[in-house]
Amino acid sequence: MIPEIEKRRARRALSDKPVPAEVLERIMGAAVLAPSCFNNQPWRFVVVEREPYLTAVKAALSENNYWAKQAPVIIVVCTKADLDCAPADGREYASFDTGLAAQNCILQAVKEGLVAHPIAGFSPDNVRSALGIPPDFTVITLIIMGYPGNPSLLNEKHRKAENSERIRLPRHQVVMYDSWSTSGPDTGPVV
Ligand SMILES: Cc1cc2nc3c(=O)[nH]c(=O)nc-3n(C[C@H](O)[C@H](O)[C@H](O)COP(=O)(O)O)c2cc1C
Repeated sequence: MIPEIEKRRARRALSDKPVPAEVLERIMGAAVLAPSCFNNQPWRFVVVEREPYLTAVKAALSENNYWAKQAPVIIVVCTKADLDCAPADGREYASFDTGLAAQNCILQAVKEGLVAHPIAGFSPDNVRSALGIPPDFTVITLIIMGYPGNPSLLNEKHRKAENSERIRLPRHQVVMYDSWSTSGPDTGPVV
């Protein structure tokens, strides 16, 4: 397996050490090399690392995401419906393509030795108004980014989760071979 895929975890213990500009350049360069329907590249990223923007984005975090306040960088991931390749049968690909780009960004960040943790627990409206994101753009996720930090700043539940076993559905429930079937080959426990 690609080592960064194995290594990546949604960790929360972050250092506030800044991320060098050239590292961020490589991460965003990886993001935009993702494939997209019709090559529409419907993703838009706002790399937030300066004040007053960083503090304003942190103010939009939900309470449970308190740990993200340590982050020196937050990447705001956006798209808009107009950028969709919009096949005639109504399928939608803008969010899908943007997710592919977000994962490229996350895996490159892991390669750079960073934690990169996507979250949904924030107020999109507050992020929008803090950064001047136009109303026709959807704010999909924030990628919380930083070098690994001290787990003692986390609550007990999050401290335990830091190096917990990975929880995944049984493989046969989510991967089928040749035809749709819930009784695929037994691959054993997946942790
Ligand atoms: C779209 C999305 C939203 C998420 N939202 C949050 C969040 O608000 N807070 C959080 O701590 N983790 C969040 N996560 C992280 C997941 O909980 C985590 O990826 C999952 O438990 C699997 O763990 P792993 O990434 O370490 O394998 C989110 C992940 C995704 C992809």
